[in-house]
Amino acid sequence: MSAMIDEIKKRRTFAIISHPDAGKTTLTEKFLLYGGVINQAGSVKGKATAKHAVSDWMEIEKERGISVTSSVLQFEFGDCCINILDTPGHQDFSEDTYRTLMAADSAVMVIDASKGVEAQTRKLFKVCAMRHIPVFTFINKMDREARDTFDLLDEIEKELGIPTCPVNWPIGSGKAFRGVYERESREIELFEDTMKGTRMGTVRRIPVEDEGVSRFVEDEAREQLLEEIELLDGASAEFDQELVDAGELSPVFFGSALMNFGVETFLNHFLTMTTSPLPRVSDQGVIDPMEEQDFSAFVFKIQANMNKAHRDRIAFMRICSGEFEAGMDAWHVQGGKKVRLSQPQQMMANGRKMIETAYGGDIIGIFDPGIFSIGDTITSSPKHYAYEGIPTFAPEHFARVRQVDTMKRKQFIKGINQIAQEGAIQIFQEFNTGMEEIIVGVVGVLQFDVLTYRLKNEYNVEIILEKLPYEYIRWVENKDIDIKNLRGTSDMKKVKDLKGRPLLLFINSWSVGMTLERNEGLELTEFGRE
Ligand code: G4P
Repeated sequence: MSAMIDEIKKRRTFAIISHPDAGKTTLTEKFLLYGGVINQAGSVKGKATAKHAVSDWMEIEKERGISVTSSVLQFEFGDCCINILDTPGHQDFSEDTYRTLMAADSAVMVIDASKGVEAQTRKLFKVCAMRHIPVFTFINKMDREARDTFDLLDEIEKELGIPTCPVNWPIGSGKAFRGVYERESREIELFEDTMKGTRMGTVRRIPVEDEGVSRFVEDEAREQLLEEIELLDGASAEFDQELVDAGELSPVFFGSALMNFGVETFLNHFLTMTTSPLPRVSDQGVIDPMEEQDFSAFVFKIQANMNKAHRDRIAFMRICSGEFEAGMDAWHVQGGKKVRLSQPQQMMANGRKMIETAYGGDIIGIFDPGIFSIGDTITSSPKHYAYEGIPTFAPEHFARVRQVDTMKRKQFIKGINQIAQEGAIQIFQEFNTGMEEIIVGVVGVLQFDVLTYRLKNEYNVEIILEKLPYEYIRWVENKDIDIKNLRGTSDMKKVKDLKGRPLLLFINSWSVGMTLERNEGLELTEFGRE
């Protein structure tokens, strides 16, 4: 086994997904704390620092009118080298958030115990499900009043359609939170108030049958626990690593990121249950990082406009196999050319750093002189294979775009096409019109501002955006369909994307169902595939 393969085996590359405020940042920070990246004394400050480093970068990007970077944090924990991919949320939610998931091998889904499954979790989970990657659930904020545990699990199973397997089980919540019961060892891990995480806390375990439990857990709570465990053992799915690997069973953990409770336990379990870099599909078959010796990577994000000259961009790529060395030459498959991979950098908790080497599973940013597109493959293999493209994700906000000064037609078309190629926006046209009527679709509304800002700044074109009421978009999968004859609803609009693929826009979800009913055999999807 080569040293390179050993390095790749150590990698765990995952994304953390959640609805805003569920505790993603706090949990990430606690991972860093346990990974020794930030120290205890700096814990509370550490949060500020971690957030600060990331948000500084965000500010710069915002000023430049670009969407927020999906940063990557790398650190060692035990024998593993962890790469955490951050998925921007809040108003920064954009297609990049989805694309980031294409670079991950698994996902940690953080859920607020008082809220359950929320809108953004649902959307992000769908992308994980599409890729069949393992999803681990961390139910957070147990130190606050939580919803009934069975209800929470039921909701995950029903709303997300994935069976769950609790690895541990909470004993009470809020002021009555006493800890978690670990099913395999039949031990209770006792909760300790760490003053909002200002202290690390000691991990104390006690067998559930031990007499001493009564010193920490009230009789009533213990009885309830035993009842719930009995119910659980009868009703819940058993842990099955194969199902977890296939993304068909989600192991569930409970804890409180803020209080440092359950985080280390989660990490220890998670790192044995999650996967090292997975094989990826290419046009020449599956490429397995444990066998492929050559370097290969694909671009999942492009950060444009690092300076105003515009041709200065960073292409973020996920290394799929082999070893990367700064300045190496490799083949850019889509461009059909050899390229030098220079100025490689990694986003770290404390800023960016230049790197010399990286391995399968790692994420790097490469200087892009304007040649890469999202989904492109770069490889040093003489086979020149190309990885499967990244799908286009359904935008949720639409606007008609017009330019103020019609004399600037050329710049407008050029600008809007380039921005679309970078993947910041999607553009659609009606079937019989040319470029005079352009509909722009975005995943997060911030992208409209980005578009307006960038067209003005980089192309000197002012635009007017007229918001359209569509909320649902579906790509038509059928190859041989005559769009003209499609029988839709009155709110439906037929358009095509840049690649000429037909799509339907709808105002409400009811119309999607109605259109499917009216056209037998019609296949619609939320992901535009190559
Ligand atoms: P996000 O990245 O998912 O958006 O969430 P973030 O970690 O920023 O957490 C959102 C809020 O929830 C923060 O409070 C954070 O302190 C709190 N929080 C996170 N985990 C826990 C937990 O386990 N228990 C409790 N009780 N609270 C938790 P905030 O007041 O909005 O921010 P801050 O002033 O504390 O920074």
